[in-house]
Amino acid sequence: MKLFLIAAAANNNVIGNNNQLIWHMPADLKHFKDLTMGHTLIMGRKTFESLGTPLKGRTTIVLSRKKDYDAKGCQVAHDLSDALKLVKGEKEVFIAGGSQIYDQSMNLHQSRRIYLTRIFASFDGDAYFPEIDPAQWELIERTDHQPDEKNKYAYSFQTYKRRLRCK
Ligand SMILES: NC(=O)c1ccc[n+]([C@@H]2O[C@H](COP(=O)([O-])OP(=O)(O)OC[C@H]3O[C@@H](n4cnc5c(N)ncnc54)[C@H](OP(=O)(O)O)[C@@H]3O)[C@@H](O)[C@H]2O)c1
Repeated sequence: MKLFLIAAAANNNVIGNNNQLIWHMPADLKHFKDLTMGHTLIMGRKTFESLGTPLKGRTTIVLSRKKDYDAKGCQVAHDLSDALKLVKGEKEVFIAGGSQIYDQSMNLHQSRRIYLTRIFASFDGDAYFPEIDPAQWELIERTDHQPDEKNKYAYSFQTYKRRLRCK
């Protein structure tokens, strides 16, 4: 089973503020949908609550330490290893944030790719994507886009692959 982190982050790594996304970028929403459709998403309780509902066509596992937490239409796991047990039989599973969950999963050996949409602007926020260490992660693909009438900021779809460790 491989884990893929998927996120959109500003130049200063901000991903959200007050438990909400900051920008509205339909191109990124489509990119997220295209990549994740049919797969399982693992997300933190705060991210789930900011969405308010599970995303169609995907299985959602919500992480919460609250033993009685109920997320309608989702599975709930109380720690990351429980969540990984739930997806043991799957080939590719997406880590969909937020900041706490990216922090905890980025260095897991199962985490093989990062699909990062870089939004070429800086914002004030209170949730961040972790620094991507170039010694650990290789940028293998990027496509840059200019702003247009629907997408206010320039952006880049970037794929990072975990570097193989040599002994
Ligand atoms: N731009 C993007 O791509 C993107 C993507 C996703 C989210 N976001 C943004 O990120 C922000 C939310 O991020 P966040 O870091 O504040 O919250 P979060 O990671 O979404 O959720 C944090 C919560 O997850 C639970 N949790 C964390 N670690 C856990 C563990 N090991 N085991 C069990 N439960 C665990 C806890 O829930 P309990 O308190 O219930 O125990 C914790 O309060 C929002 O602004 C959101 O809009 C942005």
